[in-house]
Amino acid sequence: MRNPIIAALDVPTAEQALKLAGDLAPAVGAFKIGSELFTAAGPDIVKKIRATGASVFLDLKFHDIPNTVAKSVTAAVQLDVQMLTVHTSGGFEMLRAAEQAAGEIARKLGRVPPLVLGVTVLTSLDTPALREIGLDGNVESQVRRLATIATRAGLRGLVCSPQEVAQLRPYIPPAMQLVTPGIRTGAEKADDQKRTLTPQEAMQAGANWLVIGRPIYAAENPRAAAEKILESIS
Ligand code: C5P
Repeated sequence: MRNPIIAALDVPTAEQALKLAGDLAPAVGAFKIGSELFTAAGPDIVKKIRATGASVFLDLKFHDIPNTVAKSVTAAVQLDVQMLTVHTSGGFEMLRAAEQAAGEIARKLGRVPPLVLGVTVLTSLDTPALREIGLDGNVESQVRRLATIATRAGLRGLVCSPQEVAQLRPYIPPAMQLVTPGIRTGAEKADDQKRTLTPQEAMQAGANWLVIGRPIYAAENPRAAAEKILESIS
């Protein structure tokens, strides 16, 4: 079985990220580089993590006009990332431009196109928080709506809360890869995540990948924490 754990390298420096990646490499399937690390350390950190042979998920959650997103996706694929994110609330045209740009540049470079993942509703938001920003439906209906648009636009993967995986499956193509942050083992606090499940529950619900940040990197022994999680889902 491939290792479905994506460890979020949510640390502020390249040095810390490389140390964490080195410790965790045998216990996880890929590393996620988010906006904190990328802003602090630049594209070089992507190249350095890739140079270790690990797969990289570049989580910059692009959300802009289609032309700008297409160019950003092109730049990300040139860095040789295996997964990247765009916000599905950017709309159909933006999503289609992202998927097309990923395919085109990957073909030119002779690489496998990365999985362009559509972020549905951030796992830190709940229904009252959606109301506050003017969205009247509940989280589930909003996730379904955005997932349908992403599917129409040709995306092959989505980011959603583990609690939405089972509800979402009937509405999306079977091959759609579901990536779920908001994973908590129960041993730690939920922090700002509002819609969490344990790693086992998320896998049983049909998640393909688990994005895990604080439960691993903030653990006293990150490698042991990752191994324990892997064991719990094997
Ligand atoms: O520390 P924690 O396990 O909550 O980290 C979750 C990671 O997943 C963070 O890097 C966060 O930016 C990311 N993420 C998320 N919710 C989304 C998309 C990405 O929490 N919808």
